[in-house]
Amino acid sequence: MQIIIRSNSEEVGRAAADIIEPFIRRGCVLGLATGSTPTPTYQELIRRHNEDGLSFANTQAFLLDEYAALPHDHEQSYYATIRRELTSHVDIDDAKVHSLDGMSDNPQQTADDYEQAIKDAGGVDIQILGVGANGHIAFNEPGSAHDSRTRVIDLHPQTIADNARFFDSEDEVPRQALTQGIGTILDSRNLIFIATGENKADAVKALIEGPVNTDSPASAIREHPNVTVILDEAAASKLAKN
Ligand code: F6R
Repeated sequence: MQIIIRSNSEEVGRAAADIIEPFIRRGCVLGLATGSTPTPTYQELIRRHNEDGLSFANTQAFLLDEYAALPHDHEQSYYATIRRELTSHVDIDDAKVHSLDGMSDNPQQTADDYEQAIKDAGGVDIQILGVGANGHIAFNEPGSAHDSRTRVIDLHPQTIADNARFFDSEDEVPRQALTQGIGTILDSRNLIFIATGENKADAVKALIEGPVNTDSPASAIREHPNVTVILDEAAASKLAKN
């Protein structure tokens, strides 16, 4: 596990973009996280598209997760969010930006089909990950098995409270989501784990210094052979060696 620490989230975004760019240049299957953490990375990739000729034409993408019961045209659906934050600003074919359908009336079938679609695409080359304050990756809340696959999950009360900032009120935050499993994520050939801000410091400490167990879903990535962890100083502030 390589650990990179930068002074702020913009520098973290540049460091992440430096790692992701060669994959995009040669054509790849990109795994995309939503939420606020990857925004500086996406802004930097958009800048490189606009100014440095970085083309996404040979890239396809799979989102990690989606709220249940939010239609795609809801502005907080991850379908809409990734288009607003990244893909509508670059030359990726929109049909190749894959996401889970939170409105499916057969969510487990939708989840199984998504697993198959990732396999059919040849697997994810590089997966971008954020982390919840409670250690979740994608929406794999504490207790999720490290070999879990794509499925429906009940969101943890802390996740609902944390994500209320994107909605008019906490009542509007969906209570369930569809999420790639931890096992699905670990199948990606490369992982980039990004954490910024002091509220991620405990989750980062558990990932790097704690035991590998299901209390810390993020700790599962320590078992992956190809992980880069990129932190700002605030997220790294509770590490023993910092
Ligand atoms: C979203 C996702 C989540 C977020 C996490 C952190 O696709 O996978 O695990 O990365 O909830 O969210 P932010 O970045 O908003 O703090």
